[in-house]
Amino acid sequence: MNPRSRHRVIFDTDPGVDDAMALYFALAHPDIELVGITTTFGNVRVEQAVQNALYLCQIAGRTVPVARGLASPWVKPGEAPPEHIHGADGLGNLPSRQALRAQADPRSAAQFIVDAARERPGEISLVAVGPLGNLAAALKLEPALPGLLRGVVLMGGTVLEPGNVSPVAEANIWNDPHAADIVFTAGWPLTMVGLDVTHRLILPVTLFREIARHHQHLATDTLLHAVDFYAHFYSQRFAHVGQVHGCFGHDVLAFIRLVAPGLFGTVNGPVRVATEGPAAGQTILKRLPELHYPHPGWEPHVPCTEACMSVDATAAADLFRQTLLGDWLTR
Ligand code: BDR
Ligand code: CA
Repeated sequence: MNPRSRHRVIFDTDPGVDDAMALYFALAHPDIELVGITTTFGNVRVEQAVQNALYLCQIAGRTVPVARGLASPWVKPGEAPPEHIHGADGLGNLPSRQALRAQADPRSAAQFIVDAARERPGEISLVAVGPLGNLAAALKLEPALPGLLRGVVLMGGTVLEPGNVSPVAEANIWNDPHAADIVFTAGWPLTMVGLDVTHRLILPVTLFREIARHHQHLATDTLLHAVDFYAHFYSQRFAHVGQVHGCFGHDVLAFIRLVAPGLFGTVNGPVRVATEGPAAGQTILKRLPELHYPHPGWEPHVPCTEACMSVDATAAADLFRQTLLGDWLTR
């Protein structure tokens, strides 16, 4: 295999139901090597995020280092986690859990990212699917980080699609807009997988039932339970999602972009994040490369982001299905 086609990934996450889908896609995909998981507040409090990441790996028979990240946003006050979407435990209120055997890595998420990048310069990709405080903290620890990573793919933001927590803001960016603006202007190869594409990927609960039936395994039973809870929220909120009793596959689409970039159409340009007022959390993409705006914040040196604007959702869903039906679980 071409060594460039294998992806060594640190997964920054707030698990969270769609985060769990993404984690299992990463564990199942033959071209992805998960070198670590860094956790953040978001869908759950950070301590629960650590527990969930360790638990999901344990029941899938995998050992992956898990580091604890930020418990609150950089500047604004934190908000209560959205229990009505992901459940009080982040996994759809599981009726029971095995006792955890592993413990978290003693390092902070930011230190973990910096250490891994320094150990393997140019090899590690970051896939970030929660609020972006850990990435901003890692940049503070190591300002040369953008040059040490292979790239960053994040699930967050939106360009044209309406927001999901305000008319213009997507939840991950809303949860820490100051950190997000640092991340979008850091100068690393950055791909944004936002609501413009994640709202196209609708995954029905029947797909997760098929996966669970195929494997007959605690990991896929757990995923099915969590997705069933999550799908209630999405099915009530969006009529077209309710028709198939499904949910959006937000976070997994970041991994799908990593391994199958040809499924996406993109637009390249600087992205800035509004941090205050009614537009707080908005990701603003400059879409006219030939036009120079004279206002502060839009200088020609502001780094560009590749923003995903379209996706072959049928092919993405099929890749998800085939990957999860593969032979990836140990007993
Ligand atoms: C994002 O917000 C979280 O609730 C999901 O896990 C996803 O990362 C979607 O807006
Ligand atoms: Ca998430």
